[in-house]
Amino acid sequence: MHAKIFSHNRRDFLRASAVTLAAGALPASLLPSSKTFATYSSSTPSNPHRIILDTDPGVDDAIAIFLALRSPELHVEAITPVCGNVPLSLTLPNALRLVEIAGRTDIPVAAGAATPLVRRLVTAKYAHGNNGLGGVEFPEPKIKPVSETATELIRRIVRANPGEISIVAIGPLTNVATVLKSDPTIAPLIKSIVIMGGSLSGGNITPAAEFNFYVDPEAARIVFDSGIPLTMVGLDVTRKVIIREEQVRALEAAQTPVSQAAGKILRANLDRLNKTGNANGFAMHDPLTVAQLIDPSVVTLKDFFVEIETTGELTAGQSLGYAHGPVRRSPPLETGLPAADSPEPEFKPNAKVAVEVEPDKFFRLLLARLTASA
Ligand code: BDR
Ligand code: CA
Repeated sequence: MHAKIFSHNRRDFLRASAVTLAAGALPASLLPSSKTFATYSSSTPSNPHRIILDTDPGVDDAIAIFLALRSPELHVEAITPVCGNVPLSLTLPNALRLVEIAGRTDIPVAAGAATPLVRRLVTAKYAHGNNGLGGVEFPEPKIKPVSETATELIRRIVRANPGEISIVAIGPLTNVATVLKSDPTIAPLIKSIVIMGGSLSGGNITPAAEFNFYVDPEAARIVFDSGIPLTMVGLDVTRKVIIREEQVRALEAAQTPVSQAAGKILRANLDRLNKTGNANGFAMHDPLTVAQLIDPSVVTLKDFFVEIETTGELTAGQSLGYAHGPVRRSPPLETGLPAADSPEPEFKPNAKVAVEVEPDKFFRLLLARLTASA
C-alpha cells in the first residue's frame, strides 16, 4: 500500500493520511481497502464531469455537496439552491455556508425558486430539522449569492458549453423545469440530468410519492418529458444506504473542516430523530446520487420509460416506470374523449433507473472523500 501511496501525488498522500487518521475509530469493514483506496484516491482525472448541483440543503444534501466538492472526478460549475426540505430563505444560506466550510467560495451560488411551479411548498423539517442542517447552527455565511437567478445562471453556463454540462438535481425539480420552460430550445444542449427522486417501489412521503417529486410533480413531469438523457436514483436504492453510528464516528474522528461539519450535522440529526422516536435511520439519498457519477459501479442502472403522475388526488408525484411496452392509460371515462383521441404513448425508454446498489462500496467512497485532507 505504501508503494501505491508514494507513486501518487502529494494530495493523494495527504488523503491516505487522513483516512489512516480516522482509522482508529473505524471497524476495518468501513475503511477503504488498498484496492478501493487506489480507486477512490485517483489523481485529478483529465476529463471530470462538469456539473451544476441543484439542491435543497437539507442534511443529506449537505453531505452530497461535500462529496461533490471533494471529488476530483467532478467539476462543480455552480450550485443552485431551491426550496424543498426547508424554504429557500434557509436552503440558500445553507448552501453558502457549506461552500465556505469546504473552502470552495470560487463556486457561484445562485438563488433558485422559492415556491414549486404551481403548488404550495411542503417542507421536510421533520426529517432535516427546522434549519435544514439538523439544527446545527453554523455562522452566518460571509459570501453572497451571485446576482443572477439560478435559472439565468444555468441557462448561461449551458449555452456557453453546449453538450458539456450535466445537472445533478437532488431537490425538487422546480429550477430545472423553469430553465426548460423559459428556454424551450435549451434541452438538446444539456448533456444529462442526474436526479435524486422518484421510486418504482413506493414513496416516502405518501405511499405513492417520493419527497422531491411530491413537492413539485409538475416540474418532475416537465423534466421526464424533456428528452434529455436522465438518470434516476430513487428510493429503490437510496433507502438501502442508511448512515450508521460507526460511520458518523469516523467523520467526527477525522480532523478536517468538512468531516467535522458533516459529523456534527449527522450526529445532531440522528440525535434529534432518535428523540422524536423516528429511529429508522437516515438514508444518504443525495450523496448516493452524486456518488454514482463518481463511481458508476456503486449502482446498477436499467432502462425504463418513466412518467410522473400530476393529477392524482392521492398519488401526485408518483413515478411509474415501464421496463417494456405496451404503455397503458387508465380507461377513458364514459363522458371523456373517445379513446381514438387520446392515444397511448409509445414505449420509449427515457431514463436509466438505479435498481441495485452496493452500500459498502458507496460508504467507502463517501468516507474516504469526506475524511481526506484538502
Ligand atoms: C429526498 O428528499 C429530501 O428530503 C432529501 O434531501 C432527498 O433529496 C429523499 O426523498
Ligand atoms: Ca435533497
